[in-house]
Amino acid sequence: MAKLWGGRFEAGLDPDAKAFSYSLDWDRRLAPYDILVNLAHAKALFKKGVFSADELETVSIALKALETRIASGDETVWGDDEDIHSCIERQLTECCGDLGKKLHTGKSRNDQVITDTRLFLKDQLNSHRQALLELLETLYHLAEQYRDRLFPGFTHFQPSQPILFSHHLLAYFEKFQRDYQRFELVLKTVDVCCLGSGAMVVNNYGLDRGLIAKELGFSTISMNSMDAVSDRDFCLEYLFSASVCMTHLSRFCEEIVLWVSPIIGFINLSDSFTTGSSIMPQKKNPDIAELIRGKSGRVLGNMVSLIHILKSLPLTYNRDLQEDKELLFDTCDTLNGALICFNKMIRTMTLNDSAIDAALEKGYLLATDFADYLVGKGVPFRESHEITGKTVSYAIQEGKALEDLSLEEFHLFSDRVQEDVFGVLELRHSVDSKQVTGGTATEEVKKQLKRIQEKYKWKKP
Ligand code: ARG
Repeated sequence: MAKLWGGRFEAGLDPDAKAFSYSLDWDRRLAPYDILVNLAHAKALFKKGVFSADELETVSIALKALETRIASGDETVWGDDEDIHSCIERQLTECCGDLGKKLHTGKSRNDQVITDTRLFLKDQLNSHRQALLELLETLYHLAEQYRDRLFPGFTHFQPSQPILFSHHLLAYFEKFQRDYQRFELVLKTVDVCCLGSGAMVVNNYGLDRGLIAKELGFSTISMNSMDAVSDRDFCLEYLFSASVCMTHLSRFCEEIVLWVSPIIGFINLSDSFTTGSSIMPQKKNPDIAELIRGKSGRVLGNMVSLIHILKSLPLTYNRDLQEDKELLFDTCDTLNGALICFNKMIRTMTLNDSAIDAALEKGYLLATDFADYLVGKGVPFRESHEITGKTVSYAIQEGKALEDLSLEEFHLFSDRVQEDVFGVLELRHSVDSKQVTGGTATEEVKKQLKRIQEKYKWKKP
């Protein structure tokens, strides 16, 4: 088809250069937004007398008909067009003749493409926020369900101190809640209308940018046309926030991969989120968790790619900027898929009480409580730490847990130890002593669950 910019060219674009640069194969995804942008622009042209009422009506009907064709999956819409904007304009011209050609008055693909992209991202951000809300709800219900379940807490993946499993789940609740809030902030950055900026210095027609923004549902308009067409901060902020969210998913997935291994065996995953091996019949592999973990690297890569694309670009629009869209599309799809699969996967996971109980017996999880017990008996903490270390070392040699040592054995290391030590060397006692806001004590977790419930008001599943 005739290009949008053929006038001064004699030779056509080299076929390889064409294949290299045309973007319709993937930016066709912006079609519904491009149509909205064209509709809003037509209204602005009408307001300035560039379009008559009849022309506005004809163009609007044609654009809506095109939207219906695209929505119904009509593949004949797509032709040999450079990009989505060229494609829509060609379709419109085929349908309305010169009127189709007139619609580009006062706009440029440079302001059009960012307006399309911003509209697209607003929808994607809403999907992410919805998926995150559903995930938060799942985590809340799981934390309720397993509220009192004792669990080993880890640092350096070494058994450290006993916790409630609900406290572990609510740790992720906090992370995903921050992701939700971050996406809300990104939404503010994205929610700016740039149409009217033209190629770089607005337009000669005095188009009412406020009207265009209102038509398109944007809260505000950009304040510098040159910034507007060259800015991709909103994409970067989105990619950063998506990377953080994927990182959180990945960390939880790493734990799931470890916990589900028969070597640890804390959890079972549903058959629907695991796969078998083509050669080892006994295998039940956590592929979905592994893929989420892997894809987090890919999303981070998308962010790094875009910041590199931007770093040396002079003002204003440069074709390099076309590279933003595949990165964005890939990130949106990856994150949406990951959030949905992860939510379903953890909703159907079950705990293996016996494996968790066995792990709680190992690893000297109560050592810190023993040190604190000695502090209560007047021993300075650094000294009690030393005594505890020696006691643990002795217990390891004897193949006993701390709580299995006799009073005589404790006295080998400190004469401050009394009969009441056995009440302290108890997992539930340890957990419930952590009565500080943000702590793992049952009372603290209950308070936190209550705060969450007051905020979100979720119904029982
Ligand atoms: N396909 C282009 C992009 O995605 C649209 C803007 C093209 N502008 C231009 N002056 N060549 O960035």
